[in-house]
Amino acid sequence: MALGVFDSGVGGLTVHRELVRRFESADLIYLADQAKAPYGGRLGEEIVDLTRAGCERLFDEGASVVVLACNTAASIALRRLQQTWLPGYREKIGRPVNVLGLIVPTIESVTGQPWDYEADRHGEKIEAVDVVGVFCTAATAMSRVYEIEIDKRRQDLAVFSEACPGLAGLIELGAPTEELEVVVRDHVDALRRRIGRHPDQAILGCTHYAIIADIFARALPEGTRVIDQPTAVADALERYFARHTEYDLGSSGLRRFLTTGAPGPQGDRVTQFWGAPLSFEAS
Ligand code: DGL
Repeated sequence: MALGVFDSGVGGLTVHRELVRRFESADLIYLADQAKAPYGGRLGEEIVDLTRAGCERLFDEGASVVVLACNTAASIALRRLQQTWLPGYREKIGRPVNVLGLIVPTIESVTGQPWDYEADRHGEKIEAVDVVGVFCTAATAMSRVYEIEIDKRRQDLAVFSEACPGLAGLIELGAPTEELEVVVRDHVDALRRRIGRHPDQAILGCTHYAIIADIFARALPEGTRVIDQPTAVADALERYFARHTEYDLGSSGLRRFLTTGAPGPQGDRVTQFWGAPLSFEAS
């Protein structure tokens, strides 16, 4: 058995890399749906179908838990799949399986509150508001998941999402740093103009963007807190697997990387980010 990690492309590697550190002996299988990437401009129903297909593929390969290392899939498809597909699927394959995402850990990390906490909306006097900027795909921005879930827990945080259509695709294609810098700077400026000032905290709400976290850090004012999604996810999974020992994650340290797209070596930035040359096998 293994721990599956799913993304439309290379972005989920940012989470996978952290999971390798935390779950060293577990078997990890990564699936990139590069034939269908990017997801960020797709319709909701398409994202649900593609995410379900990716999870099934990973369960077929022996995953017991699939982590959606993709904000777009997690914000659009996760709840639907957990409620409408997983119960029947579990019965069909006759073993414990689950699909988890990265929105809950990120919200917990930003708000400093557990997921089951809901703020008393009428009681508290709000002295000051911190602004949180979320850089994400168009689909994630449209879901308003960060605005809604953060507001439930912290009314002293004002959330503004900035959709960055095309950015995940550029990273996927291995665009040069100079080009990525221009695009990121434009989005940081657009968000600043919309809010009237820079955000105090930023969520890189698309896992692809963690690969270019250095470029975001340079474009944002010094001292902006950037939430580290991979760390938040790995922390949450450690707590989850301590409670849920029914999931067998394997113990031979196997690492497999599958793609629905063109197999072979990945681009320089990914290799650099990963710390070793990375090659995908055909799914
Ligand atoms: N990396 C994914 C995310 O976190 C998907 C990007 C895309 O496919 O558009 O949203």
